[in-house]
Amino acid sequence: MDSIIVTGNGPLSGQIPIAGAKNACLTLMPATLLSEEPLTLTNAPRLSDIRTMSVLLQSLGAEVAQMQGGQVLALSSHAITNHKAEYDIVRKMRASILVLGPMLAREGHAVVSLPGGCAIGARPVDLHLKALEAMGADLELRDGYVHAKAPGGLRGGTVEFPFVSVGATENALMAATLAKGTTILKNAAREPEIVDLAQCLRKMGAQIEGEGTGTITVQGVDRLGGATHAVVPDRIELGTYMLAPAICGGEVECLGGRIDLVAAFCERLDAAGISVEETASGLKVARRNGRVRAVDVVTEPFPGFPTDLQAQMMALLTTAEGTSVLEERIFENRFMHAPELMRMGARIDVHGGTATVTGVDHLKGAPVMATDLRASVSLILAGLAAEGETIVNRVYHLDRGYERVEEKLGAVGAKIERISGQ
Ligand code: UD1
Repeated sequence: MDSIIVTGNGPLSGQIPIAGAKNACLTLMPATLLSEEPLTLTNAPRLSDIRTMSVLLQSLGAEVAQMQGGQVLALSSHAITNHKAEYDIVRKMRASILVLGPMLAREGHAVVSLPGGCAIGARPVDLHLKALEAMGADLELRDGYVHAKAPGGLRGGTVEFPFVSVGATENALMAATLAKGTTILKNAAREPEIVDLAQCLRKMGAQIEGEGTGTITVQGVDRLGGATHAVVPDRIELGTYMLAPAICGGEVECLGGRIDLVAAFCERLDAAGISVEETASGLKVARRNGRVRAVDVVTEPFPGFPTDLQAQMMALLTTAEGTSVLEERIFENRFMHAPELMRMGARIDVHGGTATVTGVDHLKGAPVMATDLRASVSLILAGLAAEGETIVNRVYHLDRGYERVEEKLGAVGAKIERISGQ
C-alpha cells in the first residue's frame, strides 16, 4: 500500500487547478440509466471512486468510455441488461446506492446491495428507501439487498425528509424525473452537487424547479434524452487546497475556485485571519501576518460549513492562537484524524461530537495512519507545516477523492512524495 512522505518546507506560492467535483460526478454518472441516449460529462475528475462507479454502471449494461485522459466520460445506457447491483462492487463505495432510483424509474424493477457500514458512522439508507416508497415503490430487504419493484412505474408523491440527506435527495430527484405526475421533495438538500444534477437532468429533458432551495418540484416526463454537461468544480478539493497556504503561509491561487461554493468556509477562514480574494481565474488565498487565530466550527448541511472540510480545518487550527471548538453535526465518529494529529503534537480533546483544539506553536512530523478520505488529506496538510518528516500510511483513501495530490502540492513548493507499497 502506498505511503506519502511530507516534509515541512515553508511558505507555498503558485497556482493549483481545481478538478470537477467527485460527489457531483458520482451522482451525474448514474443519471445515464434514466435515458437510452448518450450522456457526456466533461470536467470529470480522475479518481478511483469514478472508476468504481464506471465498473458498477458497466455491470448493469451501460457503456462508459473515458476520453481526454479521463476528463471526459461518454456514458450510454441504450439498454439495461442486468438489474442487480452486486455487493462486491457496492461495498466499495456508498454512492453506489444512487443507481437504485434511476434503474427503478426507467425499468420498474431493480435489486441493489445495501452499502454496509463505513468508517465515518452507521450511514444507513433508510431515507433513500422511504422517498422511493412515497413514489409508489414496493421494497423488500432480503439477503443484504434491496429488492425494488414498481410494476406500473413510479408515481409522483410528496417526500418530506426528516433531516437533510444529499444522497437521498439525489436518488429521489432522479427517480421523480420519470415518475407519473408531480413529485415534491421537502427539506431537500441544497448542496451545489444537487444543483448540478438538476441542471444536467433538465438538459436531458426533465422538468425540475427549486433546486438549491429546500423544496424541489419535479413534473415527471415519459422519457429523457441525451445531454452534455460540465461537472461543477469540487468545493471540497478547493477548500482543502485553500488550507495549504493558510497552514504553511504564502499565497496560492486555486484556479476555477468560486466563492459561492465555499462561502461559509471562507467566512471561518476570514475569522482565523486568512485572506481570500476573488480573481479572474479563481480564488487567491494568503496568510501574511503572523499566527492563525482560533475559531469555532459547526458542520451543517449546505450552505453551512461542510463536514467534508472539518478534518482539514482541524489541521489548520492545531497551530492557531487560542482554543477552537469543532462540532460535528452530520456524522458520528468523524474525528478519527484527531488521535493521528495528536501523534504530531496537537492538543485535542474529543467528547462525543465535539473536539476542542488548543493551538500549539508547531507540530512535529510523525508516522501517521489515514483512516478515511478527508482524514488522509488533513494529515498531509498538517505534515506540510510540521517540523521534520511525516509519513502518511494507508493512503488508498486519498486516491478515491484527490487526483494527483503530490503533483498539485509539489507545484506550489510543498515537499511531498509518494512511496509505492507492495
Ligand atoms: C454525501 C457526500 C459526502 C458528504 C455528505 C454530507 C457523496 C458521494 N457523498 O454523502 O461526501 O460528507 O453528503 O455532506 O455525495 N442518513 C440517514 N439515512 C439515509 C441517508 C443519510 O440516516 O438514508 C444520515 C447519514 O448517516 C448522515 C446524514 O444523514 O448522518 C447525512 O448524510 P447524507 O447527506 O445522506 O450523506 P451522503 O449522501 O451519504
